[in-house]
Amino acid sequence: MSRAAAGPGTFFDLVQRQRAHRAYREDPVDDEIVARVLTAATFAPSSENHQPWVFVVVRDPGRRAAIGDLMRDVWLGGGRDYTMGTAESRIFEDVDQAIDGGGFAGAPVLVVVGGDTELVAKRWMASSVFPAVQNLLLAALDEGLASALTTIAALRAEELRAIVDFPATIEPLAVVPLGWPARALGPARRIAFAEKTSRDRYGNRW
Ligand SMILES: Cc1cc2nc3c(=O)[nH]c(=O)nc-3n(C[C@H](O)[C@H](O)[C@H](O)COP(=O)(O)O)c2cc1C
Repeated sequence: MSRAAAGPGTFFDLVQRQRAHRAYREDPVDDEIVARVLTAATFAPSSENHQPWVFVVVRDPGRRAAIGDLMRDVWLGGGRDYTMGTAESRIFEDVDQAIDGGGFAGAPVLVVVGGDTELVAKRWMASSVFPAVQNLLLAALDEGLASALTTIAALRAEELRAIVDFPATIEPLAVVPLGWPARALGPARRIAFAEKTSRDRYGNRW
């Protein structure tokens, strides 16, 4: 059998099943699991190996609610109207429901992801932090956890910073809810790689 076979539990299976969950059960997620997931995150590449990522694992109900409120404020204060015109309706409705029904804040863990501006210049920050976030998402799925990469709260960086006490040198970049899935999601819908790939020069289709 080919090493690339997408059998259950293989890397290819995981990577193809990774989806943005927006509804979580309340059951707690042990620190040991969170530690394994964050360990996977820290094995990501970064510019000059500066590893600028920082994580705040938020379990405190007050802070989780504050992050949820911030997400709702950004959504209702313009995000919703913007997304209505740009996202597929199923994504729009999913986000709308999650934000209104406390879907994200209902996750037992919210990982607030930041980038240390003393380690990496702003220009390289996102490309040095989001590989770690991708590792985090895949590791979470490997643990059976639901997760989602969200950036909506980071649009109001100062408020997100204040909720988790990030100093001025840490740039808030994302919030990743972690929890046990409230419902199973179907397969990811993605455009086949061949439609995105050329040989030797752009346009010389695969
Ligand atoms: C940079 C980035 C920012 C995102 N921000 C949000 C967000 O703020 N809220 C949200 O619900 N999903 C967010 N997502 C998740 C995307 O909506 C999701 O990855 C995409 O729609 C694919 O959906 P699927 O995972 O269900 O296949 C974000 C994804 C990326 C890559």
